Amino acid sequence: MSLALTDRVCVVTGSAKRIGLGIAEMYCREGAAVGLIDIDPQVMEQSVRLNTAGYNTKAFVTNITNQPAVFECFQEIENSLGPVYALANVAGYLDQQKVEDVTPERIDKVMQINVNGTVYCIQGAFEKHAHFKKWAYNQLLIQIR
Ligand SMILES: NC(=O)c1ccc[n+]([C@@H]2O[C@H](COP(=O)([O-])OP(=O)(O)OC[C@H]3O[C@@H](n4cnc5c(N)ncnc54)[C@H](O)[C@@H]3O)[C@@H](O)[C@H]2O)c1
Repeated sequence: MSLALTDRVCVVTGSAKRIGLGIAEMYCREGAAVGLIDIDPQVMEQSVRLNTAGYNTKAFVTNITNQPAVFECFQEIENSLGPVYALANVAGYLDQQKVEDVTPERIDKVMQINVNGTVYCIQGAFEKHAHFKKWAYNQLLIQIR
């Protein structure tokens, strides 16, 4: 299946490892320029590895719960790669525990990353990239939860 992403800009959060990295690599193979966002600095090494293999990526060590930082990141993506065509929200936090061990602080951490951070990234893509609004309505916004 071809996704026809040649020269499109795709952004993947949580792309330092596992599911997010796999989606980023798929976008690369489809010819996209890929913005990699993760709080884990390992995302920089992954970007170097992918660029060495001939792909076009740029990594951003960004905490998605920091709204101003997210907006700045999307501005940098536009400046360096171009307008965002697709966004895969993969960054997430799973806090598996016994129900009796749940605390307000632990719930807040889960919500901050999985809900607030996801919304900030969508806002970043919408605010900075006029084209994304049109494209997003055509199913180019992916949520992994
Ligand atoms: N792996 C599974 O079987 C599975 C199943 C169901 C749902 N999920 C969900 O899918 C998502 C991805 O799964 P995974 O297995 O790749 O998870 P993972 O924990 O391996 O990777 C998540 C990535 O998100 C990044 N991240 C966390 N908080 C962040 C923040 N504040 N800012 C920026 N980046 C942040 C982490 O550094 C990490 O690289 C998660 O939300 C997970 O809960 C995974």
